[in-house]
Amino acid sequence: MHTAEEIYNTVNQSIDKIDWGINPPGLYAPIAYVLALGGKRIRPSLLLMASNLFTDNLQAAINPAIAIEIFHNFTLLHDDIMDKAPLRRKQATVHVKWDENTAILSGDAMLIKAYEYMATMPADKLGECLRIFSKTALEVCEGQQYDMDFEKLETVSQDDYLEMIRLKTAVLLGASLQIGAIIGRANKTDAQLLYDFGIYIGLAFQLKDDLLDVYADSTKFGKQIGGDILCNKKTFLLITALNNADKNTKIELNAWLTKKEFNPQEKINALISIYNKTSVKTSCEKKMDEYFTLALSCLDKINIPSHKKQVLFTTANQLMKREV
Ligand code: IPE
Ligand code: IPE
Ligand code: MG
Ligand code: MG
Ligand code: MG
Repeated sequence: MHTAEEIYNTVNQSIDKIDWGINPPGLYAPIAYVLALGGKRIRPSLLLMASNLFTDNLQAAINPAIAIEIFHNFTLLHDDIMDKAPLRRKQATVHVKWDENTAILSGDAMLIKAYEYMATMPADKLGECLRIFSKTALEVCEGQQYDMDFEKLETVSQDDYLEMIRLKTAVLLGASLQIGAIIGRANKTDAQLLYDFGIYIGLAFQLKDDLLDVYADSTKFGKQIGGDILCNKKTFLLITALNNADKNTKIELNAWLTKKEFNPQEKINALISIYNKTSVKTSCEKKMDEYFTLALSCLDKINIPSHKKQVLFTTANQLMKREV
């Protein structure tokens, strides 16, 4: 078994030594830039951790892990255009540092690179893993479309929101774990349990992401605080506030949501004070706990000695408490 630290080191070393190519620089420099900014690299790490439950040799899982991280970074380039985000990992987003067309095309190239890396896995597992990867990638697009559609809707139910975040975020964590398990030659049941574990962790992960968008420490966070508020994102916080608010608060909230011209910081401050008044942080943390418990029940059922599950347990726990 490898420790979490060893796995993070393997992931970081493997990604940091990728040679992206030089020409044309407008295509490759943004790719090198965003990957050099690091991030948590949680998805490739989860992939290797899942593989490691079933085998000590992680060699076959490394390129698929890199593929998942490149894919994730591709989604960020396009997501930051869609969300008008100025900051990512404490630095300017690619569409701000370069321009939108650059972020679109470098993103496209990254998606292709992701498939190239994924395709290098053991031949007898390739078909199955490519099916999972493609299905997942398409689901992420579906989630992202719902996310944008919901910005324009007046009300979104909690169930619709949860399905949207399952698609845009949770399935990629699930697929990372499942693909890792398959490459480690886990049986179908255990690979599926790891997928389900990833879905629940992923739902909690996006709830935490919504929370951090409002409540993070700006010196640590690395993204713009209040970005979701400015886009009228139907986050768990906003949906819960709309549900919990009394009549007058709801009128105030809806006035902000429909206002065409406003001072951005004023809107952020106003919504945060409504969020505080309607205790949405506590509701969100409660929901996260529910999903964390469901995730653990999946981990529990995997048919391997329980001490081997410690790395995934600890990692999941840290994700719930993360500050970035
Ligand atoms: C951000 O993902 C996008 C979401 C799905 C919430 P991460 O929080 O994993 O971002 P990095 O890769 O660590 O920067
Ligand atoms: C990200 O959701 C989902 C994907 C990138 C697919 P967010 O838009 O909330 O992620 P951040 O907050 O920008 O990282
Ligand atoms: Mg988004
Ligand atoms: Mg975003
Ligand atoms: Mg977010």
